[in-house]
Amino acid sequence: MSRLNFTLEKTAPGSRARAARFTTLHGEVLTPIFMPVGTQATVKSQTAETLLAAGSNVLLANTYHLLLRPGPEVFKKFGGIHRFMNWNRPVLTDSGGFQIFSLPSERRMNEEGAKFKSYVDGTTLLLSPEVSIETQKAIGSDIMMVLDQCIPSTAPYDQAEAAMQLTHRWAVRSLNARGDSPQSMFGIVQGACHPELRKQSAAFLRELPFDGLAIGGLAVGETHAERYEFTGLVTEHLPENLPRYLMGVGTPIDILEAVHRGVDMFDCIIPSQLAQRGTVFTSHGRLHMQRSVYKLQDGPLDANCDCHCCKHYERGYLHHLAKTSEYLGWHLLGIHNISFYHRLMREIRAHILAGTFAEYYEKKRLELVRVDE
Ligand code: GUN
Ligand code: ZN
Repeated sequence: MSRLNFTLEKTAPGSRARAARFTTLHGEVLTPIFMPVGTQATVKSQTAETLLAAGSNVLLANTYHLLLRPGPEVFKKFGGIHRFMNWNRPVLTDSGGFQIFSLPSERRMNEEGAKFKSYVDGTTLLLSPEVSIETQKAIGSDIMMVLDQCIPSTAPYDQAEAAMQLTHRWAVRSLNARGDSPQSMFGIVQGACHPELRKQSAAFLRELPFDGLAIGGLAVGETHAERYEFTGLVTEHLPENLPRYLMGVGTPIDILEAVHRGVDMFDCIIPSQLAQRGTVFTSHGRLHMQRSVYKLQDGPLDANCDCHCCKHYERGYLHHLAKTSEYLGWHLLGIHNISFYHRLMREIRAHILAGTFAEYYEKKRLELVRVDE
């Protein structure tokens, strides 16, 4: 039985999009949902208050980083990440499987886990399924992820099959390590861009007592067309009655395309990262606020946005902050971008519930392809 009490509320006619809800230890989650990334137990440049005002609910944190610093003993002392970072809503922790693969540290993989050198103090650490889950238990996240092996999506069959098999053995060990913890746990489908492997992976994981299933190993080297194809292929082989999470995706158009193919949950650093660089999403496309065309402009970033930044700040001032790389620019543009994502998700959900998603999708994708340029 799922720990999340997942309820499928509505599926969209003419699309595989779904609206659902489930309950975590820190409250209810309405899907489709976007989860801002708070790698170091902070969504960079934001506070709990600004995130709530922007519409955030679930935040993502990273086991790999938090294991190295501040370390599990700090989370035990504070009774978990929620009190530690003043966030009383749900938190999902990624397992470290992606960081082992993506960070340029020395590492050696074997059956047991990944041995790697700490970027904090140079000591050698083992990240095994058991260490990852014990750390996620200490962090006290609402949703834990299994430790997986994420490889480039362009990997050849043999390599992708070996990584998938290892991911399956680690998934079983992760579940065993959970024990009777009330925290939920999601499995992660791997298999690169090999349809047979993706099907096998989904078929294997859906037989285990997970509370949700994630699609990993995408947005790591494949084309957009392949990403959409493999997302749709995997969701066809996932159970209807569990949440589906596409890890690390994506831009607004990527999210819309994945919702259309039956995905419920997303996380991505793009809205915060682009804000740091002075780039914002608007209903008329991306704006690069360092550009001098904005120097003398008044009015908000986006007339269709009711975020704190658009309510109170002029384009000319935001240009100045971006141009001088002021911290406040990152903060305000971050509020706007995160609000943009959450508004998109609310709009998507409202259309699914109203039965008008298929028409909305056809219209919105044309608009978002422009926004993504
Ligand atoms: N984040 C983005 N992709 C992945 C993945 O394949 N595995 C994990 N653990 N995290 C991810
Ligand atoms: Zn705004």
